[in-house]
Amino acid sequence: MIKLPFSNISSISAAYNSAWEAPSNIALVKYWGKKGVQLPINPSLSMTLKNAATQTSVKIIPSEKRDITFFFEGQKKPEFIPKIDQFLNRIQEFCPWVDRADFLIKSKNTFPHSAGIASSASSMAALALAIADIDEQLESEKSGTDFYHKASFLARLASGSASRSVFEGFSMWGRHEKFPECNDDFAVSYAAIHPVFDQFHDDVLITDSKPKAVSSSAGHELMNSHPFLDGRIRQAKDNFLKLSENLRNGDLQSFIEITENEALTLHALMMSSEKSFSLLKPETLAIIEAVRNYRKQSDVPVCFTLDAGPNVHLLYPNENKEQVQKFVKNELLPFCENNYYLEDMRGSGPKKLESYDA
Ligand code: PMV
Repeated sequence: MIKLPFSNISSISAAYNSAWEAPSNIALVKYWGKKGVQLPINPSLSMTLKNAATQTSVKIIPSEKRDITFFFEGQKKPEFIPKIDQFLNRIQEFCPWVDRADFLIKSKNTFPHSAGIASSASSMAALALAIADIDEQLESEKSGTDFYHKASFLARLASGSASRSVFEGFSMWGRHEKFPECNDDFAVSYAAIHPVFDQFHDDVLITDSKPKAVSSSAGHELMNSHPFLDGRIRQAKDNFLKLSENLRNGDLQSFIEITENEALTLHALMMSSEKSFSLLKPETLAIIEAVRNYRKQSDVPVCFTLDAGPNVHLLYPNENKEQVQKFVKNELLPFCENNYYLEDMRGSGPKKLESYDA
């Protein structure tokens, strides 16, 4: 494991606070399956978004033992405390002070509730950034760019995909023999990007806003005994290598092929695990077919990806914005719940907030 500069301070003697906004991210090469404590079975690569974000403030005071109060969008939500407590237990080894403090955490999302895209990536990244920031305040020596690696490391222990949300643009997480900077413990930024991806769009077409029937945790678990496990790891590494090249050289045709292959593979893995399940809806498949037909007829380089759910992410370069939005309005909106979709795009990463009190 790479050593990161955590404070290792075991208790605090004053109050501290920090507030951060962290964006969500969309995986292009998917993380699906884990080992050990939140370590990925394969490398993943994602784009950090702009509009879908979580703002979180953390206030701590010295205490004999830990107590947590959590507010979401102005309301006390004790049901989230066990997950936060589990996270703090996991990071106690690196930030021992989390055992000797009372926590007041307030959080809110910048995107509408009703969309059903509540994101553990943005919420856990914002919480991890605030905790990493408090850890920096406790330490006289600052960790420079390693601050974001620290935050990513902590975020990973809350939710794997959150580890990629602490960087702007594109992030890579998980070991790959061809990328010495990539590791399983935390994500790293992927900076050498072709200008076609500078203002890259991701519109989220909401086909169903209900909570999904099978959680990501249950899905990851099913990979342990998956009959295609070895093949999937090989395929993900191969797609990771090709996609990282495409992000550098701007080859949109290959980008589209790999991105869509990854999206459909994620759902194919769900359908072919020992306990099979599907999160796709008829509208998801109708949109996929319409996107592929439109691309063939128009030559517009638009493609889709999917998260672990039925909503479709539509990806395209800024120069095609007008054409794609016309296509969305004319042909795709009828497949969306209440004709609803969210416009998003590549964002500029997390930011520290001066103050935030929900
Ligand atoms: O971070 P988790 O445990 O919610 O897993 C997320 C997995 C996918 O969203 C399906 C893929 C990914 O890489 O983000």
